[in-house]
Amino acid sequence: MKICVMPGDGIGREIVAQALRVLTKVGQKYGKTFETEEALIGGSAIDATGGPLPDETVKLCKAADAVLLGAVGGPKWDTIDPAIRPERGLLGIRKELGLFANLRPASLFPELKHACFLRPDIVAKGIDLLVVRELTGGAYFGTPKGIEMRDGERVGFNNMIYSEHEIRRIAKVGFEAAKKRRKKLCSVDKANVLDVSRLWREVVIEVSRDYPDIELSHMYVDNAAMQLVRDPSQFDVIVTENLFGDILSDEASVITGSIGMLPSASVGAGRPGLFEPIHGSAPDIAGQNKANPLATILSVAMLLRYTADEKTGDMAAEAAAIEAAVQKTLQQGLRTGDIREEGCKLVGCVEMADAVLANL
Ligand code: IPM
Ligand code: MG
Repeated sequence: MKICVMPGDGIGREIVAQALRVLTKVGQKYGKTFETEEALIGGSAIDATGGPLPDETVKLCKAADAVLLGAVGGPKWDTIDPAIRPERGLLGIRKELGLFANLRPASLFPELKHACFLRPDIVAKGIDLLVVRELTGGAYFGTPKGIEMRDGERVGFNNMIYSEHEIRRIAKVGFEAAKKRRKKLCSVDKANVLDVSRLWREVVIEVSRDYPDIELSHMYVDNAAMQLVRDPSQFDVIVTENLFGDILSDEASVITGSIGMLPSASVGAGRPGLFEPIHGSAPDIAGQNKANPLATILSVAMLLRYTADEKTGDMAAEAAAIEAAVQKTLQQGLRTGDIREEGCKLVGCVEMADAVLANL
């Protein structure tokens, strides 16, 4: 199996390095070989080539079975021309690879319930949800967009636009995901105000006719933001458009305790998928061996699970082994700074990965 690896910026390099150690180990254990090739993206690509997504990177990604990404961005590139910001690299590769579905699971590790920001009685009801975020449409990509002069003042605009085929295919991903889980799908929109949301809701309802066993509900995004902190246990799968999904998935992740724990998968119609932690490049702690590598390690587990097919063989066992090793490491009381807890052992990025390897 060929994996294109893009460490990116900030803590990206250190967390990806640890995740690759885990990948190698799991390969040894299960007799699989993973061929990895590194590619540039984001700020480090800007520094090396003048742009955040070199052609060479797109080529390497397209030739791979899966892509593993660290994180992009940092203050160094904050004042750069917006057209070549590091984030453009990430948006660009999602588009190039046709990765229209972003799966962001947020569940509470029982070991980390003390790190959870919600009241214990709310946490006791459990958090185990999946945000299915549309990733290649909406206001992120819609045109026209820009900043221009109108009547003597600057006007900024973007276009939240969806065609029905885009809504239909992401709705299907939501329903299929719900089928494998607790069979509940909540579609989040702003249909009381936005036309694009009215179409969203109509199409989701049309798709639901093929999924009579799934309990479909609709929620306005402002209410969803509130319900996520009031009672996250009510959610199984949430399906929503790009910008709403960006915001709600951060919220869903942090209520589990730390954004440093959660992996994500971006998938499209075929290969490769792209797998990355949902957190950013954390420039404030970069290069200090403080970052939590677990979200990236868990992204490797997702990579194995979602890339498995006739060519690579079923890799559910490999994925489960990684997840179990992570859980055991938490049980042993090891914590990085973001999930630090009294009575637990504070460790760095490398030591955390050492423990996962030992548990593997
Ligand atoms: C994410 C990030 C990205 C996004 C940024 C870095 C472009 O916030 O993956 O959620 O907004 O999609
Ligand atoms: Mg985000």
